[in-house]
Amino acid sequence: MRILLGVSGGIAAYKAVLLLRLLREQGHAVRVIPTRAALEFVGAPTFEALSGEPVSTEVFDDVPGVQHVALGKGADLVIVAPATADFLARAATGRADDLLTTTLLAASCPVVLAPAMHTEMWEHPATRANVATLRERGVHVIEPASGRLTGVDTGPGRLPEPEDIAREALSVAGAGGAQGSVQDLAGRTVVVSAGGTREPIDPVRFIGNRSSGRQGVALAQAALARGATVTLVAANLAQDVTDQVEAGPGRAACTVVRVESTAELREAVRTAGADADVVVMAAAVADFRPAATPDAKIKKVPGQGPAPIELVENPDILAEIAHERLRPGQVVVGFAAETGDASGSVLDHGRTKARRKGADLIAVNAVGSGRGFGTDANDVTVLDGAGDVVGQAAGSKREVADALWDAVVKRLP
Ligand code: CTP
Repeated sequence: MRILLGVSGGIAAYKAVLLLRLLREQGHAVRVIPTRAALEFVGAPTFEALSGEPVSTEVFDDVPGVQHVALGKGADLVIVAPATADFLARAATGRADDLLTTTLLAASCPVVLAPAMHTEMWEHPATRANVATLRERGVHVIEPASGRLTGVDTGPGRLPEPEDIAREALSVAGAGGAQGSVQDLAGRTVVVSAGGTREPIDPVRFIGNRSSGRQGVALAQAALARGATVTLVAANLAQDVTDQVEAGPGRAACTVVRVESTAELREAVRTAGADADVVVMAAAVADFRPAATPDAKIKKVPGQGPAPIELVENPDILAEIAHERLRPGQVVVGFAAETGDASGSVLDHGRTKARRKGADLIAVNAVGSGRGFGTDANDVTVLDGAGDVVGQAAGSKREVADALWDAVVKRLP
């Protein structure tokens, strides 16, 4: 596919570099058209080197070639990321004061804009009106994500991740491909648990873990992009992950059930799982919980030392569902977070767990020492129920999610 990647002048222009690389890796021919302001953030040589094509901002750079008409007519898809408030205003009023806006007027292919700006600018009536005008004209404006903005503030206005922009834009253009918009989960219902449980000790204390929920949310977003109906059972997600769920692309399609403890998680997963084709247990579930939870805060008695906390075992939700199958033909997927120890490697423990749990697939990942928790990268080996390796995936949590869905799709009846 021949893609024109417009880049306007916002700090998120650096993410356009990642988007460019992703589109190139997927085999698309990409020509970058930055605005003058975009080149204040990222230099033309970066775009030229990664696209392998010349970069210009002005209509007058190649007058005999009548670039804007040739580019606009020859494109299969135009993506503008980031689209600043100023760019949206110029596009909405049909201005043609640089190569990008002029090309946009000459383009007859699908146009996808990915806005990025501060929340106040995004919510300003002028921007809302410009977005409404563009949408009425058939331009696809991606909803910005919510989360950390340039400074310390957070809110809607963040440029979605390059993977999400690529997926949504390619799906608008009707392009497929393994990394594109394959709708291989269309008509399927999936449940994904994410985050980490908190087991109450008393009304103010709990036993918890470091899971951010990033991998589970990436799984939910990937499933949505592939056409599934998704329920996300969210246990105590990190704030930035919660923001993604609340305002990320596809948010309207995802049902989010918030839970805290293992008991609540179990109930929510079993309820949603009764109608699901696939259940993925990506949550870090506490193996034990305090035997009793008093209604009042446990008080320190000076000189008496700590009061012991008696623990009892939690039900193993994954093993239960894998053995029962809440619905015939249901595919059940688990994770095995392992550090490896004297008794075996990460993979040894993963194999044992795969056999014990009875799930169709287990994604084994190494955790601890900064790996696995809270980062955007993950590295998993996918085992089947017998403990045999059926896949390997490394990269962003979204890439790992897609690799896992590839394995799930093969097992769906
Ligand atoms: N899991 C579950 N219910 C539990 C514990 C874990 O459903 N009570 C699920 C997790 O969601 C994950 C898988 O089981 O998909 C493996 O979790 P992990 O914590 O790695 O394994 P454990 O069963 O807790 O085994 P161990 O603590 O011995 O490593």
